Amino acid sequence: MAHSQRKILVTSALPYANGPIHLGHMLEHIQTDIWVRFQKLRGHLCTAVCADDAHGTAIMIKANNNGITSEELIDGVRQEHMADFNDFLIGYDNYHTTHSEENRELSSSIYTALKEKGKISVRSIVQAYDPEKEMFLADRFIKGTCPKCHAEDQYGDNCEVCSATYTPMEMINPRSVYSGATPIEKESEHYFFKLPDFQDFLAKWTRSGTLQDQVANKLAEWLDSGLQEWDISRDAPYFGFEIPDAPGKYFYVWLDAPIGYMASFKNLCDKTDGLEFDEYWSKDSDAELYHFIGKDIINFHALFWPAMLDCAGYRTPTGVNAHGYVTVNGTKMSKSRGTFIMARTYLNHLDPQYLRYYFAAKLNNSVDDIDLNLEDFVQRVNSDVVGKIVNIASRTASFINKKFNNTLSAEVAEMEMIQSFIDAGDVIANFFEQREYGKAVREIMRLADIANTYIADQAPWVLAKNADTLPKAQEVCTVALNLFSILATYLKPVMPQLIADAEAFLNKELTWENRSELLFGKTVNKFSPLMGRIEAKQIEAMVEESKEAVAEAAKEGTNAAVAEDSELSKEPIADEIDFDAFAKVDLRVALIAKAEHVPKANKLLKLTLDLGGETRTVFSGIKSAYKPEDLEGKLTVMVANLAPRKMKFGLSEGMVLAAGPGGEEIHLMEPHSGAKPGQRIM
Ligand code: 2FM
Ligand code: ZN
Repeated sequence: MAHSQRKILVTSALPYANGPIHLGHMLEHIQTDIWVRFQKLRGHLCTAVCADDAHGTAIMIKANNNGITSEELIDGVRQEHMADFNDFLIGYDNYHTTHSEENRELSSSIYTALKEKGKISVRSIVQAYDPEKEMFLADRFIKGTCPKCHAEDQYGDNCEVCSATYTPMEMINPRSVYSGATPIEKESEHYFFKLPDFQDFLAKWTRSGTLQDQVANKLAEWLDSGLQEWDISRDAPYFGFEIPDAPGKYFYVWLDAPIGYMASFKNLCDKTDGLEFDEYWSKDSDAELYHFIGKDIINFHALFWPAMLDCAGYRTPTGVNAHGYVTVNGTKMSKSRGTFIMARTYLNHLDPQYLRYYFAAKLNNSVDDIDLNLEDFVQRVNSDVVGKIVNIASRTASFINKKFNNTLSAEVAEMEMIQSFIDAGDVIANFFEQREYGKAVREIMRLADIANTYIADQAPWVLAKNADTLPKAQEVCTVALNLFSILATYLKPVMPQLIADAEAFLNKELTWENRSELLFGKTVNKFSPLMGRIEAKQIEAMVEESKEAVAEAAKEGTNAAVAEDSELSKEPIADEIDFDAFAKVDLRVALIAKAEHVPKANKLLKLTLDLGGETRTVFSGIKSAYKPEDLEGKLTVMVANLAPRKMKFGLSEGMVLAAGPGGEEIHLMEPHSGAKPGQRIM
């Protein structure tokens, strides 16, 4: 080939082995897979590896709750993950697990290297401990009452209501989420990686073009405020690898997780002739290494990981490519709305290539979130893929099949247009290379519009009716199918099955390089419809099934993903109260005189309420559902005799009443028409 062949190793973040793959994961794996397929299509030697992230407390506890061993749990989950990726046409060259011999050896040897270089320190720390389960408790496994605002059911490190931060032992009535026992404080020895020693190295490395600017800037803030030593050990019981020469101490899951990238690759090398581990990982390697990750795990990949690699004598990544989160219909994926969609649920209703296309059309190389708007999804896929791309072939192929014995013209007049399609490949390749898939897709669709206009203008269906113009009909269809084959090449990384079907029809295996080898005088095969439109009812059925899947999982209490999203499980059921208690609550009609955003608050709006003369300031967590300007002048209902509460943003003098699961669906109470501000509700 013309340009020299690159050696490239690519990874996606390793999914935790305790829950199913959902569309949030899929964004990353699709982004990675498109890039990898693109590199392969260009003729480079590109290898993609992934694995399940199999260690840690959460997995151990879940296995325990399910009455199986951790090994049984992670084996089962890995099979499901592999099936999900496979069915989404994600083509990893290897999908391993971090609970593997390769990973145990690499983790031990890297740790030993860090220790020999004097980069491991050992000291005792005090932590919360569950005396019943006999295990140490990370902050998120402790719940209790906020010591500041007295909100109940808060996590052990910060309060979601007043944003206070604290240690678990400072909480009122802290308890272990595992046993309900009150945690005690207990001391134990921990092992630390001396990250501050790498300050200068990291300041340089993070500015060396390996990161997006946005990301490098964020890291610069952390680097400026000084790095902390990183706690890399956990006490037994823990599901993971025991630390060499430290019985009862285990590597923290985040120590061996990225090493899992190497381990998966090692496992692949051991079964592949000519693939050499050292060629990719030694300090003088000429191979490229890219990690695709979500923006939430940047510190692990752009601080700890390069420092560890460099210190242990390995090369560092060429690039760490971070992406944003997936939102659905403009908000966080929600179980109650049926928009927390599992990969498998999606697959039960829709072709994976629709989503691959939609994500591609929206992806760029920033860390901005990507919104899956379900209406736009249907509209866009139908109009672009079916209406524009597939249409080029479906409007012209049948004539070649029926009137010309499957044979294309030997030459055509429109070489200029065809050449412009070929030339556009350089720009499009550049966009794919830069992870600007949205721009690549827009360019491809611009060309598709040109092709469709050409077909409409030439109207081969008219030309084919008349013996005189029949050769012209063949020529027009030949031009169209050549344009189609070029565009199919560009879309091959995005929709591999659709394009494989197109290749079968065109009798050609498409590569980036051979897009200029045109199909003149060649025969094609019988055309059959390549892809159908999405029907709205498929989306409805998927959303419905997502709601059911959540309800099922909540009943069984086995779905880890349910625990992440608390909307459903946290409808509080209040204790019974007597009438006197009820009568103490002073409910009043309140006029929203003013509604304002609160700088830096994620959930709160500041309301100024008029109680018929008296005004109150109330902070209310309704920002996700209301625009301030829509509230002003409306009547609502408030608890007027609630003791004032000091919140992070000011004093809140009462509470407004609202119903709904959260997010966009919060509905402020409204009194019946005719009610006046200040009137008592009874
Ligand atoms: O955040 C996560 O889902 C982790 N399991 C990602 C690990 S990536 C790598 F370091 F292994
Ligand atoms: Zn609080």
